[in-house]
Amino acid sequence: MTDATRTRPDGPGTPGHTVRTYWDTRHRERDDLASGGHIGLDRPGNEIFYAVRLGQLLTLIGDVSSPAAPLFVLDAGCGKGHFARALARCGHHVDAFDTSEEAIGRARAEGGGPRYAFAALDEWRSPWLYDVVLGVDVLFHVLDDAEWAAGLRNLASLVRITGRLIVTDEHTDEPVPRGDYILHRPLAAYRRELEPLGLSHSLFRPYGFRENRVGFHVFTRTS
Ligand SMILES: C[S@@+](CC[C@H](N)C(=O)[O-])C[C@H]1O[C@@H](n2cnc3c(N)ncnc32)[C@H](O)[C@@H]1O
Repeated sequence: MTDATRTRPDGPGTPGHTVRTYWDTRHRERDDLASGGHIGLDRPGNEIFYAVRLGQLLTLIGDVSSPAAPLFVLDAGCGKGHFARALARCGHHVDAFDTSEEAIGRARAEGGGPRYAFAALDEWRSPWLYDVVLGVDVLFHVLDDAEWAAGLRNLASLVRITGRLIVTDEHTDEPVPRGDYILHRPLAAYRRELEPLGLSHSLFRPYGFRENRVGFHVFTRTS
């Protein structure tokens, strides 16, 4: 779906509008790392937070790209594009989108290879499937269960057979709300949506960063 054809009813007064305003404001007011990283960390802390996760991510994705056959990667909820740019530098073909016009504007201005778009998790469409569909610290910011499930199913539909969906959340048995903009969901909720679509949970890799309980859930599409 393109910027011009978005249909979500997210005008003023709707919960979606409030969340989008929060992210646009955060992306406008915070630096490139704090806006999508951890708002409670100082700059060096966020540098480490991003570097640690990028290392984990590259290990999970594997050293499998080549100029002749780049991996096709989708970065869903890319924010200002920190991970998208890093993955493009590593030779991958990267599409990236976010619901924050502010973030997408900054990401496009930065350039660096990825193709950026303005879209929500349940809206992005693509003429090709991806080897890796990534959602770093985005799904647990979607508070509405129906929107979360629709977004997750849409991301799953974009993964090619044997490809992987890598999304981040806590590894928990029950929902864990934190503050106004976070709802961690149990692994069972992810499995309930993804297994009927042919994706099975392969592994959980915790960030391993300070007290952060979030990590990468890897789902592999087997059918
Ligand atoms: C914590 S930031 C993470 C950004 C980026 N993934 C990173 O790690 O730097 C969460 C991002 O999710 C985006 N977002 C929230 N709800 C979304 C949705 N339904 N669809 C797409 N993006 C969404 C926000 O605009 C924000 O940029």
